[in-house]
Formats: sequence, C-alpha cells, structure tokens
Amino acid sequence: MTTKELKEKYLTFFERRNHKLISGASLLPTNDPTVLFTTAGMHPLVPYLLGEKHPAGQRLVNIQKCIRTGDIDQVGDAWHLTFFEMLGNWSLGDYFKPEAITMSFDFLTQELGIPVEKLAVSCFEGEEKNNIPPDDESAKIWQSLGLAKGRIAFLGRSDNWWGPAGQTGPCGPDTEMFYWTGNEPVPENFDPANDHNWVEIWNDVFMQYNKTADGQYEELKQKNVDTGLGLERTAAVLSHLKSVYDIEPLSTIVLQITSLMSDLELAPEYVSDLNLADQAGLETEKTIRIIADHLRAATFILAEGIEPSNVEQGYVLRRLIRRAIRYGQKLGLVENFTPRIAEVVIDKMGGFYKELRTNRDFIISQLAKEEEKFNETLKKGLKELEKIGQNKKVSGSEAFKLFTTYGFPYEMTVELAKERGWEVAEKEYQEEFSKHREISRQGSSQKFKGGLADQSIETTSLHTAAHLLLAALRRVLGNHVYQKGSNITAERLRFDFSHPDKLTDEQKKRVEDLVNEQIAKDLPVTIEELTVAEAKKRGAMGVFEARYGEKVKVYSIGDSVPGGQVFSQEICGGPHATQTGELGHFKIQKEESSSSGVRRIKAILE
Ligand code: ALA
Repeated sequence: MTTKELKEKYLTFFERRNHKLISGASLLPTNDPTVLFTTAGMHPLVPYLLGEKHPAGQRLVNIQKCIRTGDIDQVGDAWHLTFFEMLGNWSLGDYFKPEAITMSFDFLTQELGIPVEKLAVSCFEGEEKNNIPPDDESAKIWQSLGLAKGRIAFLGRSDNWWGPAGQTGPCGPDTEMFYWTGNEPVPENFDPANDHNWVEIWNDVFMQYNKTADGQYEELKQKNVDTGLGLERTAAVLSHLKSVYDIEPLSTIVLQITSLMSDLELAPEYVSDLNLADQAGLETEKTIRIIADHLRAATFILAEGIEPSNVEQGYVLRRLIRRAIRYGQKLGLVENFTPRIAEVVIDKMGGFYKELRTNRDFIISQLAKEEEKFNETLKKGLKELEKIGQNKKVSGSEAFKLFTTYGFPYEMTVELAKERGWEVAEKEYQEEFSKHREISRQGSSQKFKGGLADQSIETTSLHTAAHLLLAALRRVLGNHVYQKGSNITAERLRFDFSHPDKLTDEQKKRVEDLVNEQIAKDLPVTIEELTVAEAKKRGAMGVFEARYGEKVKVYSIGDSVPGGQVFSQEICGGPHATQTGELGHFKIQKEESSSSGVRRIKAILE
C-alpha cells in the first residue's frame, strides 16, 4: 500500500464516521514556546483539548507533519525518522475509550485487512504515586474485540503515557498497536521490548488529565482522544517492506543519493536492492538513510522560513544539515549535494505540502549557502579538533570554541570524539553554553525591543495598539491567533499573526471597532512582575522563553484588580502608553498574507 493510498483510506474511514477533516499545522508551534517543533498532531489542538470549542466540531481528522529529534541517534535503522507524517483522529469531549479502540480495530482489521493474529497492544500499567490506576478498561475492550490476552502488555510511563507536550497541559494513558513483521509464526505472548519483529504503528491517547504547573494531575472535565498513526511505518509494514526508506517518498530520496554516488563513479559497495549483508554495505545503507532523513527534515524546516543558526529551531536545522553533509562526505558526496536532495523532496512532496514549492528558492539557496560555509570551516575545525584531542579529551571550553568558531554543533563534536575514542566534558560545555544563551537571550529581548523603531510617543502608542490588536483578533477570529512578529515605527505598525485565511471586510471592521472601543474607554495600562508560571496561569500572551521561576514583565490593558475586566495581557518588555485614551483612532490599512498560515496587518493611529 502506498502512503497516498493509506492517507486516503484513513481520511475516508473517519470522515464516514462524522469526523471533519482539518488542515495540518505548521512545524513551528504557535502556542507552546516550551517546544521548538510540532512533535505530534496534538500541539496545534491544545486549546481545544483544554475545552475551547473547535469551529469544526468535536470529531476531527488530520494529517500532521512532525519533527522529533529525541531519537536522532536511532535514525538510520529501519523505522526511526526525525521528520514524519502522522494521521490522527480526534474526539474533543465526544467519544472515549470504547469507540476509539473499536474504530482503530476496525480500521486495521477491516479497512487494511490485517488479521487480528498479527496484532498486539500495550496499555498503561498505572502509577500509584500519582494516583493513576492501570488502564484495565482499554485492555478489556481489546479483549472483547478478539485480541488474545497474551497479546496485551501492560507497560509504564515511558511506553504508555502521552504528554503534556510542554511542561503543563493535557495528558493521559495511551494504548499502542503493534504489527508483527517477522516471518516466523507470531509468538503467543507479546514482548515488545525483546522482540523487534513487533513494530508500533498506532497510538490511541486518552487525555483524561491536565498536568498543572505544580506537577499535579487533575481530571479534565472534557475527556479527549488523540490518536497518531505513523504514515510511513504503517504503509511500509503493510507492503511487507523492511524499512520506511523502502517506501515512497523516502525510497526516491534514497535513490537520488545513490544516483549522485554513482555519478561520482565511486559508489562503493552499495547495491540498490539494499540487500547487502557485509558490514561495509550495512554502514553505507545506514549512512544513506541518515542523509535522506536529515535532508528531508531540513527541507521542511526551511519551508517554514527558518534559517540555519546557532539558536533554537535554527540550531536544530543547522545540526541536521551539517550532520547530513558529514555523512555525505563518507560516501564521497562533497560538493553542493544537499540542494539536489532537497529538489527531490520538493518534487515528491510539494504537491501535498505547497509550502515546499512556494519556498523552493529559499530552501535551495539556504542549503547551498550552509553547505559551502560548513565545508569551508570543517577542514580547519577538524585540524583544531585533532590538536585539542592530543590528550584524548575535549574540554567544555574547547567544545564551545569548536561550536562558535568552527560551527561544530556540540553533538557533532561528541560524535567525532567518540569515533576517536575521546571524552568530551559535557557539564563544562553546558555551563559555557548557558552563558552564551544568557547573552543571546539578552540579544533577543533587545531584538524584541528592536521591533520598535524608537521610543517616541507615536511608536509607544502604536505598540500599545498592537497589544489591543492581538487581543481583538483573538476575540474575533479565535484563540488560534498568536503573534508571529511585529515591526513598529512612528508612522505605522506591522503585525504578523497565525491565521489560515484572508480576513473578510466584516472581520476587519469588527477588529477595528473592538480596538477603538478600548481606546474610547480610556483603559489603564499597568505593569506587573510575575513568574512565568503565574503569567501562564493568568493566560498572558507572549514568549515564555524565560526559565520557569524567573520573573517577567506583564502588561495589562484594562482593569487588572481582582474581578476587573482585562482586555489584553501580554508578557512584554514595553514601553507602552499609560492610558488607551492617548492613542487616537485605530485604522487597518492593509491585510495580506505573510507566509503560509501567517497573515500580516498594517495599521495606523490617526
Ligand atoms: N500524540 C500521540 C502520539 O504522537 C498520538 O503518539
């Protein structure tokens, strides 16, 4: 079965069961700055899992692109990927365990035709210290559907618990489904830890709890279901293939790498049916897979407008590209090969993921630039590393110097050191890195203030207007709206925010009116210093990049006394007007697309 067929089957199956198809979200989470990337379909849905009404209803189905770097060391084996697609069906306070499990079972056995004998499941074993009982209910449902008792395993938190995505939020036990890929008869007893012929394909999460900032699990009023079926994995096992790299689109990416290698006429031991048993062949196969995975992930991150850098998403991107380049060198791919792999990703996947085609030039040029830059410093950096490693040790400050001067991501230094049998002083490195982060954080708050051209009365007033605008947009369009950027001069404000569609004239008018009403009320603008946890609890908007206990400035517009009406609350460095009455009349001049899923408003005060 192809990935395309599997997507279609899945969507149709759930649409027939009254699920509304919603579009997948960006790889950059807009409402949870505690994670760098969307790692599962639930990220964009967090507000709805917590009880907000979703415009499409209580039953949803989607396809979500995800990035997970936690398993990066396993990438290259048959099943692990950093970028992958996840199919999900959702119940927002609608059905729960019996319906969710029954639908999963029916989809697998009836729609995909998997015999029940080839399936096994795991359920949550419970956790006394947090007062969470074993999930016997799920196990009973599986048994009632025909799963033998021996095929149901009870496992702990690391296997059968999901979430929250950040530090707090919706979470709960899950039940995972495994498919038997072995040639031998299926064993009676399911032992996922010791038998790698079982491949996990689907996970049904039952979101019953909300984890609070003080680490408690409180029952959610609204119980939800969040499921995730790994697209590439499931399609591959159903096609009796040995890995996700043997199925489209990854198989074509792999082919492109091997064809670049054969162009070089030094394609070594590699043969295209990946059927080599000797060590060199296996190494080559793994190397090719890592390159395919990393450059596909990098292409998708670039399509979000992220550039390689030394911080946050840009750092992950840089690490993926540079790792791919290093592996490429092992195969003899030395010059400008990364754009040629990205071309294939764009061609194969750009029909569904339009952002790849829209941003083709950016993707290609960034890769070419990064590859050139890295090649320039790599030689010098390796020389430096050899010098450093004379005592078979790399100190924290040396690793940090390799990072800042030669652009060696720390993880790469560790890998290189390991290959040579050397140690790296991790703790010392982390200390150096924290110092650096502190400096760059100061830099980024500077940059945030730099979003204001100056501190004149006009600019300050427009800055306050921008806060009113965000609050008004959320009231008119919904709580999926988050600020994505701003640039304010004395003449106008420019404000980017997450929203999929063009605003109608009526929406624009309602937003304008709402802002002007707050100006007419002459509301006070007040500052408080709160910890990040307190600010989050109050529902303040803004970037929670400070550490958890750290204090941040929160600006409120409206009556912030207990029981008073607050119109806007944001973590922000200021400065602001002291009363909204100072602002004048707010007018939207233009509303346009900024990038995929992001709109831009230009507005003035007259
Ligand atoms: N959020 C769940 C997962 O990613 C479905 O496994």
